[in-house]
Amino acid sequence: MKNAPLRISGLSVAYQKKPVLRDIALEVPEGKLIGIIGPNGAGKSTLIKAALGLVPRLSGEVAIYGRPYAEQRKLIGYVPQRESVDWDFPTNALDVVMMGRYGHLGWFRRPGANERRIAMECLAKVGMADYADRQISQLSGGQQQRVFLARALAQDAQLYFMDEPFVGVDAATEKAIIALLNELKAQGKTVLVVHHDLATVKEYFDWVVLLNVELIQAGPTADVFTAANLQRTYGGRLAILERNDHETGIGAR
Ligand SMILES: Nc1ncnc2c1ncn2[C@@H]1O[C@H](COP(=O)(O)OP(=O)(O)O)[C@@H](O)[C@H]1O
Ligand SMILES: [Mg+2]
Repeated sequence: MKNAPLRISGLSVAYQKKPVLRDIALEVPEGKLIGIIGPNGAGKSTLIKAALGLVPRLSGEVAIYGRPYAEQRKLIGYVPQRESVDWDFPTNALDVVMMGRYGHLGWFRRPGANERRIAMECLAKVGMADYADRQISQLSGGQQQRVFLARALAQDAQLYFMDEPFVGVDAATEKAIIALLNELKAQGKTVLVVHHDLATVKEYFDWVVLLNVELIQAGPTADVFTAANLQRTYGGRLAILERNDHETGIGAR
């Protein structure tokens, strides 16, 4: 049987002895847009970082297409949570996108015209071609987010992790990003997205991972994204609303 893009078993993570993820087991299917959903502090970012080897694990295994992360770097694109990035770092938008190409270059090769062309194409795809030379500190939040998305596109990965890509972007940009993610999906790529707007989950994602320190449930959105499971995920912090203006029927405050 084909290896799953991401398979996690027995994963536990703690920061200073405080458990943040407990015994997570998860296998995600290929070619889907997958939402990672849970309250603040649920461990969503930590789950991604643990999968990418960016934080130490107490226990557990992570396999990317059947192999450890270190062997699969080239298959992975990562868009970190915006607030975790140093936006004052003196670099322009094009250089940020070019960084996405480093995995494709040998050690001693410097990016040349071809890498530059690819990076420019990716900036154009997110509507940021005119900002190629702009310092990233001088971009708006939504523009910064789009530059990071362009970098992920430049990576030409198979499996993408995006941590809250819609935070700080306007509605038009959110639509544009979702359209791009659907394009990636149409190419058979797998995209995991940390997302906190429950009202758009059914519209955006084929599959969801409900997380709150423990894995509550994961699977097709229609089966898993239920009021009962959300109550288990959010506990008392969730207000279940009857929303006639939206097909989901479920919202959060
Ligand atoms: N580097 C860190 N050191 C100590 N605690 C951390 C660190 N990063 C996150 N935490 C804590 O771990 C928990 C999970 O964090 P995180 O994975 O960022 O949650 P989420 O992304 O779901 O909001 C939170 O309680 C957070 O305060
Ligand atoms: Mg987070």
